[in-house]
Amino acid sequence: MRKIGVLVSGRGSNLQAIMDRIADGFLPLEIAVVISDKEDAFALERAGMAGIKNVVIPRKGCASKEEFEAKITAELQAAGCELVVLAGFMRILSADFVNTWEHKIINIHPAILPSFPGLHGQKQALDYGVKVAGCTVHFVDAGTDSGPIILQKVVPVMDDDTEDSLSERILVQEHIAMPEALKLWAENKLEIVGRKVRIKA
Ligand code: GRF
Repeated sequence: MRKIGVLVSGRGSNLQAIMDRIADGFLPLEIAVVISDKEDAFALERAGMAGIKNVVIPRKGCASKEEFEAKITAELQAAGCELVVLAGFMRILSADFVNTWEHKIINIHPAILPSFPGLHGQKQALDYGVKVAGCTVHFVDAGTDSGPIILQKVVPVMDDDTEDSLSERILVQEHIAMPEALKLWAENKLEIVGRKVRIKA
């Protein structure tokens, strides 16, 4: 079974979706470690309840970003992870970290990239007035939400949507998209060609 590490900062509903799809046999993967930069992240409890190793690495406990990321890499490597999944991890990773894990980091973003990268993708979409929104699962490169796209899911934007109602609608799709992308990765069906991700049959 291929091993992955999941980086989180908060609620962990995407982590839960991955755990659920492993438990029901859809995903042929093992979560070897969950790492949070926030000690009060509910995601840690979710991992603990599932018997998954979980570790807190607070940024403020490290003298530099390099040290912080070196600790994360050490945990991931010690656990034998082949892939790093960012599931609501709220820190920008350095180019060094991204190079160490080149083509081995997957992120989920709550917008149809390349529109609305960065924070509050759902609010950005709502404020802009788009008629469809959604989520994107992508490989991480050194930019912000700019790496090769694996898959995207679309939802309608309603006239009376609030940031919360739109976020909820998108989240349902996030919980489908991330496991789908991870299954493709686990089955070696993703091939990165320049900016594009080809999905092999
Ligand atoms: C999700 O909306 C995800 O797209 C974004 O952060 C949120 C994390 O939610 N990157 P959760 O912690 O997985 O519930």
